[in-house]
Amino acid sequence: MWGYTIRMKRSKFYRFFPPPQFLQMPAVGLDISDVSMRFAELVEKRKGFVLGRFGERAIPRGVIEGGEVKKPTELRAIFADIKKAYNLEFVSVSLPEEKAYLFDLRLPVMKYSDIRGSIDLALEEHVPLKADEAIFDYDIVKEDESSITVSVSVVARSLVDGYLEAFSGSGITPLAFEVEAHSIARSIVPAGDKNTFMTVDFGRTRTGIAIVTEGAVQFTSTVLVGGGSLTDIIAKKLKVSYDEAEKMKHDKGISGNSTNDDISLGLMSMISILRDEISKHQTYWQEHPDDYGKKRAPIQKIYLCGGDSNLSGFSGYLASGLTVPVELANTMVNINTLDEYIPEISFNDSLRYATAFGLALRRPK
Ligand SMILES: Nc1ncnc2c1ncn2[C@@H]1O[C@H](COP(=O)(O)OP(=O)(O)OP(=O)(O)O)[C@@H](O)[C@H]1O
Ligand SMILES: [Mg+2]
Repeated sequence: MWGYTIRMKRSKFYRFFPPPQFLQMPAVGLDISDVSMRFAELVEKRKGFVLGRFGERAIPRGVIEGGEVKKPTELRAIFADIKKAYNLEFVSVSLPEEKAYLFDLRLPVMKYSDIRGSIDLALEEHVPLKADEAIFDYDIVKEDESSITVSVSVVARSLVDGYLEAFSGSGITPLAFEVEAHSIARSIVPAGDKNTFMTVDFGRTRTGIAIVTEGAVQFTSTVLVGGGSLTDIIAKKLKVSYDEAEKMKHDKGISGNSTNDDISLGLMSMISILRDEISKHQTYWQEHPDDYGKKRAPIQKIYLCGGDSNLSGFSGYLASGLTVPVELANTMVNINTLDEYIPEISFNDSLRYATAFGLALRRPK
C-alpha cells in the first residue's frame, strides 16, 4: 500500500491467527494502551477512505500494566461493551513497542515463501526468547540481486496470549496484531515518502519514539513521561484533584500564567526529560552507521501525535532545544484522500487516533 516496489508488507503476526479467508478482510483498528482503548474504522471508497465507526473507552488501572494483560476477565468485559455499543466484529490490534524487539536481517535471495522460515531459524541469535516462545512479523526493507533485507519485530507469545484470552468470548475477533510504532508510521508518514522521520507519540503514561526510514520502522524506544505526568505535577503543586488538574492543563497549557510560574517550570522540566531522550536518539542515529557500515539518512522532521501533543506551548518548548523541525502530525494524511470529504473528528481528537487509524489503514496484501 506504500506504493514501493522494494518493500512488501506482510500480514501481521498472522501465524497465530484465524483462517486465511479472514485475513482478506479489512478490520477496525483497535489501539489498546494501559489506560484506554480507542478504535476507528475506515471505509474504503473509490477514491479514498471515509471514517466509519470510532470511539474510545477508559481502562481501569491494573487491568493492563506495561502492555501486559493482568486481568483478562475485566478486559473481556470492556471488549464486550464496545461490541454491544458499536457492533464491532473484526479488529487489528496494536501491541506496545516497549515489549517488542526489533532487528534487521540480511538474507540471501530466496523465494518470499521461504523468508519466514529463515527468520525463524535466526530468531534466537537476535532476541532473548526461544523461537517457540516468540511471535514475529517482518517487512522487506531492501532487495538487490544478492540479498533481501528484512526488518523483524518480535514479541513474546505470552504477551499476545493475554490479549487472546481477553478477546475470547467477547464477540470481537482479532485478525492481526502489530507493534504500535508500525501503525503510527502508517498513519502519519505520508505514503510513499522515503525520507527519514522521527515519530513521537505523547500519550498519557508514556511516550513512544520511533525512527522511520523509507516507510519502515527502524528503531523504537519508550520514555515513561506522558501527558499524565504533567497533570500529576499540577495536581500536586496546587493540591487539586487529577480531574481538576487535567482541566487546568488544557486551559492554560505549558506556560500557564504569571501566578503559577513554579508549575510552568515543573512542566518544562518534565518535557525536558522527553526532549533529552529525543535528542539522544537523534544523535545516536546520525552518528552511528547501520549494520553494514553505511551512514544513516538524516532525520528530516519530528512528527508529534498523541493526546497532549497539541497542548499549548508543548511543541514549541520541545522544539526549542532540538536541531530538527518539530511538526504536529496530520494523522489523516493517508486517509483523507477525498477532496470533498470533511472528517467528523476534530484535529485535536485526531492526534489521539494515530494508532487506530494506522491499524485501520492496513490492507490485506
Ligand atoms: N479529549 C481527550 N480525551 C482524553 N485525553 C485527552 C483529551 N484531550 C487531551 N487529552 C490528553 O491526552 C493524554 C492522553 O493521551 P493519549 O490518549 O494519546 O494516551 P493513551 O494512548 O491513552 O495512553 P498511552 O499511550 O500513554 O498508553 C492525557 O494526558 C490527556 O490529558
Ligand atoms: Mg497511546
